[in-house]
Parts: sequence; structure tokens; C-alpha cells
Amino acid sequence: MQTTTHTQTPTALVFGGSRGIGSAIGRRLAKDGSNVSLTYVSSPDRAIETVAAIEGIGRQALAIKADSANSADIQNAVRQTVDRFGRLDTVVVNAGILRTGDFSSVGLDELDLMLNVNVRGVFLAIQAAAAHLHRGGRIITIGSNTAVRSGHPGASVYSMTKAAVAVMVKGIAVDLAPRGITINNIQPGPIATDMTKDLLDSLSSLIPLQRVGEPDEIAALVSYLASPESGYMTGSSLTIDGGMAL
Ligand SMILES: NC(=O)c1ccc[n+]([C@@H]2O[C@H](COP(=O)([O-])OP(=O)(O)OC[C@H]3O[C@@H](n4cnc5c(N)ncnc54)[C@H](OP(=O)(O)O)[C@@H]3O)[C@@H](O)[C@H]2O)c1
Repeated sequence: MQTTTHTQTPTALVFGGSRGIGSAIGRRLAKDGSNVSLTYVSSPDRAIETVAAIEGIGRQALAIKADSANSADIQNAVRQTVDRFGRLDTVVVNAGILRTGDFSSVGLDELDLMLNVNVRGVFLAIQAAAAHLHRGGRIITIGSNTAVRSGHPGASVYSMTKAAVAVMVKGIAVDLAPRGITINNIQPGPIATDMTKDLLDSLSSLIPLQRVGEPDEIAALVSYLASPESGYMTGSSLTIDGGMAL
């Protein structure tokens, strides 16, 4: 049983916050002053490490096992966050999966999994969390530059899911605008994480800035979008990829 902490400290919820970009985002939002709730599905050890890092920054953190393919898990993650911290200010929907393969060999199970986590799960997370946000609340999704330039073989389904997120964000931005809540989408190019560890060497040569990105560079943009300074931006997709999609 969790105890509720009613606090003036803002609260951020990061879906998929155990490792990679999501872990960097959780730590950055903690440095910026938020308590952080994060979800994970398969890496409890990495989630615990991220919680410890956030606590080391001096903020409170909560790790919740919640599969973004499961709507009950998503709702439970939001409920646990609000129960524990008493408020919700920033939501980052980062959980995502990459499976590659020529379109002709993509099976139904694989197709459904990608759509469930990368599209349906994003929509349901925003829907569940938005009910608890107030004026000035912030929602940030993590899409991909493949929504703009799907230049690699075998990326049709992944690119489709990330393009869906970019358009979803536009529609939700209009719906949320009267409540003074903004939603924006970040579209990274290749970033050094577990997801891309086998691909980075082949991708670097395609990037005008001639290097892959770091998770902290994505977290820095999240920091801006989560701040009051970004208040006039909503429905946007911001590509951050070393110029790869140009
Ligand atoms: N890395 C890149 O080059 C790159 C480029 C463009 C876009 N992106 C996007 O950025 C996001 C993060 O990518 P990453 O590179 O940090 O990936 P990663 O290292 O593979 O980490 C993925 C994160 O999402 C979580 N996750 C995966 N499936 C989940 C599910 N079904 N339910 C809940 N959480 C789930 C993972 O939790 P567990 O640890 O428990 O598995 C982990 O925290 C993704 O949306 C990805 O598509 C990444």
C-alpha cells in the first residue's frame, strides 16, 4: 500500500522510464525539480537503478510495472502515481519498441504488438493521464524521425507507428487547448541506447553531424517542453537527429 504525499513539488510520469532515453528523461525532470513516477515492463533492475539515481538527485521516485500494450496496466500506472504524489503535471510517453523486417515477412502478431505499444498504448496513456492534468500541464510523446524519412529497409511498421503518433498529437492538441494543456512530440534520430546498439555503426554515416545522439540530448528538449517557457507551443513534432532527415 502506497502512502500519498501531498506536495507542492511537481510530478512527472514517464511511460517507459527504466532505461535509455526514458531513464535520461526521468533523471532530467528530477533535476528540474519534479518527483518522478516511471513505468517498465521487462527490466526491473534498470527501473530500480533509475529510481535510485532520481533519489540521489533529492527527489522522490516510484517504479511501476505496467505494460503499455495493456490498458488496465496503463490506467493503474496513472492511478498509482496520483495516489502516491497527489498531483500530476508532466506526462512523457516514451515506451516504444522497434522490430525490423521486410514488410512482406511481418507477421500479424508482430504487427499487432508494434501497433499496440507504439500507437494504442500512446493514445491510452495520454487519455488516462490527461484526466489528472491541470492548466499548464504538459504532455510529451517520443516519436521518431522515421515519421519524416523512413530511409532504411525493414522499417515500414515502425515508421508507420511513429507517423501515427505525430498526427495523433496534432488532434489531441486541439482537444486539450481549451484546458490550457499542451502536447508536443519529439522525433529523435539514432540515439545510443539498447534499442539501437546493433545499428549505430551503419547509421552514423547517414547523419550530417556525423555522430549519433545521446539520451541526455533528448531529455534536454523534454525539459524545455515540460517548462512554462514552452507554453505557446502545442501539436508540434520536433525532429532532433543531427540533420539526418533533411
Ligand atoms: N534509440 C533511438 O535511436 C530512437 C530513435 C527514435 C525514436 N526512439 C524512440 O524513443 C523511445 C525510447 O527508445 P530507447 O532507444 O530508449 O529504447 P530502449 O533502450 O529499448 O528502452 C525502451 C524503454 O521503453 C520501455 N518499454 C518497452 N516496451 C514497453 C512496454 N510494452 N510497456 C512499457 N514500457 C515498455 C522499456 O522498459 P523495459 O526496460 O522494462 O523493457 C524501456 O524503458 C521509443 O519510443 C523509441 O521508439 C528511439
